[in-house]
Amino acid sequence: MVRCSTLLLVSGLGLSSAMAQSYKIAKRYVGQSFADEFDYFTKDDPTNGYVNYVSLEEATSKGMVSYNGSKFTMGVEATSTATGRGRDSVRITSKAKFNDGIYILDLEHMPVGCGTWPAYWTTTEHHWPRGGEIDILEGANALPVINSTAWTATTNLKSPTLNTLPPNADTSSLHTNPKCVISSSTMTGTIKTNTCDAKLNNNAGCGILYSNASAPSIGLQLNQQNGGWYAMWRDVQGSGGIYIWFWGRNVAGVPDEIRDGSFTGDISAANWGVPAANFTIPDCKKDFNDHVITFNIALCGDYTTSTYSATGCPGTCASFVMNNPLAFADAYFELNSLRVFTATGQIASMAGPEGLGAGAIAGIVVGAVAALVVAGGVWWFLRRRRQAKTSPEALNLAARRRHDESGGSVISTASGSESDKADAPYPVGVLLPGETPTPRKSAPASKSRNAGSSKAQGRPVGSSASGSRRPSRAPPVPSAAPSPAFALTADEAKKAKFRPGWAV
Ligand SMILES: *[C@@H]1O[C@H](CO)[C@@H](O)[C@H](O)[C@H]1NC(C)=O
Ligand SMILES: *[C@@H]1O[C@H](CO)[C@@H](O)[C@H](O)[C@H]1NC(C)=O
Ligand SMILES: *[C@@H]1O[C@H](CO)[C@@H](O)[C@H](O)[C@H]1NC(C)=O
Ligand SMILES: *[C@@H]1O[C@H](CO)[C@@H](O)[C@H](O)[C@H]1NC(C)=O
Repeated sequence: MVRCSTLLLVSGLGLSSAMAQSYKIAKRYVGQSFADEFDYFTKDDPTNGYVNYVSLEEATSKGMVSYNGSKFTMGVEATSTATGRGRDSVRITSKAKFNDGIYILDLEHMPVGCGTWPAYWTTTEHHWPRGGEIDILEGANALPVINSTAWTATTNLKSPTLNTLPPNADTSSLHTNPKCVISSSTMTGTIKTNTCDAKLNNNAGCGILYSNASAPSIGLQLNQQNGGWYAMWRDVQGSGGIYIWFWGRNVAGVPDEIRDGSFTGDISAANWGVPAANFTIPDCKKDFNDHVITFNIALCGDYTTSTYSATGCPGTCASFVMNNPLAFADAYFELNSLRVFTATGQIASMAGPEGLGAGAIAGIVVGAVAALVVAGGVWWFLRRRRQAKTSPEALNLAARRRHDESGGSVISTASGSESDKADAPYPVGVLLPGETPTPRKSAPASKSRNAGSSKAQGRPVGSSASGSRRPSRAPPVPSAAPSPAFALTADEAKKAKFRPGWAV
């Protein structure tokens, strides 16, 4: 009976092109699957942060990642003074790649704290920005709940000054090759920037600021309501759009298939109402390919640093992150589930070499033969150039080029070799999701967030509670007065940077 009505429903959808397409479950990530089915990125932070991304094993042993039943938690190390590359954190990337479909995240808690820059995003694995990037949730420098462990450890906080801004509303954004733009559409959010070209506006991308009319969608206030649901309907090849909805944990009218993280039946976005963000991009169909899904918690870095003081955070970012471990007690993601539904019920491809189909492999073999043929000539040529290239003058030029590239456009040259760049799991020279380019770049040879690599986090701690060494993440104080949320959205960050006199 049920099967029968499902068929009727599906065929009904097929007959009416006005109705939203139906999708089947392709992946449901809960608990340990965030450890097993994600790669943990361990290279240098592409965004110049004071952060040391660690492996699953290390994160698990340090209690930074753990799972219990369907819950998965990944956070920043919060017991020790940081050394080396920076404070330990996690950046994870799905091994599976997805294309059009419905992505539903049930988020219980997002990282907050001075110097903390978390994001939930999807991106092309190679050659960024070709293939695109979708930043769903992102924030920086959100303050912890008043009187929580993290709050108490955040001493010398300057008077909050951002309570007149909308720090409790997320900004989602797209970053693409040139020519992709968004225009007004049916949604509750508002367009902040309409050009998605990653090479313009310091890679601000095209961004849509959510309305917070029904519930805060980011930061401390999101955590105080125990999070909520982010649902994205990526329909680039179909209707030519990417639509994102957000429901706070306690709002009325959350669709059953959203609320129930165990729902794996057929699904469509037909009855979800007006989206928070509606990126209508019929001319950008070629700008989005198969994406990996990423969660990461950067510390300091381009975006964070540019907005650090404006939020009232004390001293300088790196120094604060180094010396105040307890201030990171709330710098963690707690995920209840992540479901991805696709038209076929299959993932699009796998990240890395496994993802190469037979056609691609054949192409590689042919390419390799061709490469061998020319290698000899190239070797000879390079050999001749080498001396000139390593002269002090030449090195100077190269450094200057990196500086220029990263300065104006935020697109910087990764420190890796050209071949590294081509194969980087992530776009080299990319900014993090949502990130906003910082006019003043702090890091010298930087890489962009996506750059280099990026697969990050994940973890499994199988934990139990007992084994966890993670400092107690004090539960948010529910009764805390709605402290001004000081999280900056990407857009706010931009204002801070480009509008003199705005902050503080
Ligand atoms: C929504 O944001 C505005 C600032 O834009 C703020 O004044 C208001 O308090 C926020 N609403 C809620 C429910 O937090
Ligand atoms: C997005 O906006 C366009 C233009 O207003 C509208 O036609 C479309 O139905 C909207 N999409 C959704 C999912 O609401
Ligand atoms: C795991 O979850 C169960 C059910 O929510 C809870 O009772 C238990 O305390 C949790 N264990 C740990 C170690 O957090
Ligand atoms: C924080 O703690 C102080 C000292 O105990 C108390 O006076 C104040 O009311 C608390 N504030 C909140 C928002 O709980």
